[in-house]
Amino acid sequence: MRTAFTELLGVRHPIVGFNRSPGVVAEVTKAGGFGVLAASMYTPEELDAQLTWIERQVDGRPYGVDLLVPEKFADGDPDNLIASLRAQIPQAHLDFVNGLLDKYGIPAAPANPLHDEVAAALNPGGALALLDVAFAHPIALIANALGTPPAGLVARAKQAGIAVAALVGQAKHARRQLDAGVDVLIAQGTEAGGHTGTIATMVLTPEIVDIAGGRPVLAAGGIASGRQMAAALALGAAGVWCGSVWLSSEEDVANRALKAKFLAASSADTLRSPTRTGKPARQLRTAWHEEWERPGSPGPLPMPLQPMLVNEAWYRIDAAAAAGHEGALRLESFFIGQVVGSFDSVRPAAEITRQMAADCEQRIAELGGLL
Ligand SMILES: Cc1cc2nc3c(=O)[nH]c(=O)nc-3n(C[C@H](O)[C@H](O)[C@H](O)COP(=O)(O)O)c2cc1C
Repeated sequence: MRTAFTELLGVRHPIVGFNRSPGVVAEVTKAGGFGVLAASMYTPEELDAQLTWIERQVDGRPYGVDLLVPEKFADGDPDNLIASLRAQIPQAHLDFVNGLLDKYGIPAAPANPLHDEVAAALNPGGALALLDVAFAHPIALIANALGTPPAGLVARAKQAGIAVAALVGQAKHARRQLDAGVDVLIAQGTEAGGHTGTIATMVLTPEIVDIAGGRPVLAAGGIASGRQMAAALALGAAGVWCGSVWLSSEEDVANRALKAKFLAASSADTLRSPTRTGKPARQLRTAWHEEWERPGSPGPLPMPLQPMLVNEAWYRIDAAAAAGHEGALRLESFFIGQVVGSFDSVRPAAEITRQMAADCEQRIAELGGLL
């Protein structure tokens, strides 16, 4: 298959594998797709180690990195970022989260010393350190979500011959990204896991293709099969950017309890909620969301204060759920899109990549027969 995206990056299949697990990124890339590592979940030191590991696996094949740098963020003192952000979290919110953990009997876990630093990286200063690490590696593409790329990113990438991609949820976002010099637009519909807008992939993709001026557009949101990939290409996309489907892969680092919940879920079991990051993000609906929706809930804080408030709680919930704790299993959730309803097994990421490509080719051939 040849598209503007496969030509730009020199890959075999126009399939992007977005994931936080380096194993998924490496396997998608080795199978002929294009792996992209979600950097925002790592400290700079961790990111450096992960990228070095990926490079050892992929033998010179191209791969990318994704950052999450919001345009709007809570202000902190740059010299004392973590403490100044932490001081902005109201006591009522701390009490609410502690009360929730007590109610479900979530055991204490060894404190995760990194959770504040990772959340603080959702501020421009923190994200810059991750950017420096990414640019020190031979990446082929750098992507950003939640707004136009941070100052200097585009110029720096162009100088290094790295393609710049951006996730967009509306036509007006795409115009701003094009003005900022972005090379690849990712039209991400509301079906997607993670931060999403409200417009569906089916509506958004052709809109973005029409304003992209020939630049490659990848469709994202609701794509986990060859049939859905063929539909995206029919809409004018040069490829697909998939996130959720890899959570059903063997290499994904999510615990087994969470994967079991995904396998049991239907496409109606997700919601957009700001209760993890401070911005609406699609995730599996669980008792966690019921608690935040109850009268008396203090409501979510803006990014990055909300993740600073809840990341430690999620660290504890994940650890307890992995050990089979009943209360934790009721709360356990993660970002996932509506395609979760199609998951029926956990498979190697390379197999998912190859099957999606093969089924897409078959579907396109069958469509030709309709004429
Ligand atoms: C678990 C998970 C985490 C995500 N985190 C990010 C992120 O940090 N940065 C980002 O640009 N997109 C993030 N996304 C969105 C993906 O990049 C992608 O656009 C989306 O998953 C595509 O839709 P799909 O979930 O239906 O495949 C995330 C998605 C998931 C499922």
